[in-house]
Amino acid sequence: MRVSAPSLSPKPVSASRTVISVVALPRDSNHYGFVYGGTVMGLVDQAAYAAAIRHARQTVVTVCVEQITFLRRIYVGDVITVRAAVNYVGRTSMEVGVRIETERMRTGAVEHVGSAYVTMVALDADGTPIPVPPLELETDDDRRRRGEAAARRRTRVARVRRAERRGHDGR
Ligand SMILES: CC(C)(COP(=O)(O)OP(=O)(O)OC[C@H]1O[C@@H](n2cnc3c(N)ncnc32)[C@H](O)[C@@H]1OP(=O)(O)O)[C@@H](O)C(=O)NCCC(=O)NCCS
Repeated sequence: MRVSAPSLSPKPVSASRTVISVVALPRDSNHYGFVYGGTVMGLVDQAAYAAAIRHARQTVVTVCVEQITFLRRIYVGDVITVRAAVNYVGRTSMEVGVRIETERMRTGAVEHVGSAYVTMVALDADGTPIPVPPLELETDDDRRRRGEAAARRRTRVARVRRAERRGHDGR
């Protein structure tokens, strides 16, 4: 079967918007009843994957996860909601912004637990990076997030270049 190449027409930020909600179960927690960071990081990666592939409609892989901060505890029985959307598109990479929230089910209180920025790269069947569609900015929030993501990208690219010059992974 012939697979046609995905379109490179611009896509709005809204096309990538992703929401994942799960109930925190005992298996997700430590013996204090707090949810493991790794559980939340897995959800962050899944949401970033879904947002990036909705934008690119190509195979995508995670190349970099930055700035995850856990500001509050999550307890067994809370609903964890992870929201993601593409903030910025380079040539073959996309920065996905991810916001993590919890809802205490007894009270309905919703809290911002943390945020993360995930860089995903689109690949062809041989694993070579390939171009992704440009990002169409529809709202002032889209434009603000794109501007902030562009600044982070400059820092990130400089860090990767420094690491390449040193011939190691940048630590
Ligand atoms: C993703 C991968 C193919 C990129 O390879 P590469 O040789 O660096 O490719 P390029 O230099 O062409 O870079 C491709 C894009 O990735 C970006 N990139 C590369 N390294 C990066 C890093 N450390 N952080 C953020 N972005 C990075 C580049 O800026 C470029 O973006 P652009 O096209 O929008 O300008 C390669 O690193 C890889 O296969 N990594 C493993 C991914 C994986 O398996 N993830 C699952 C988790 S284990």
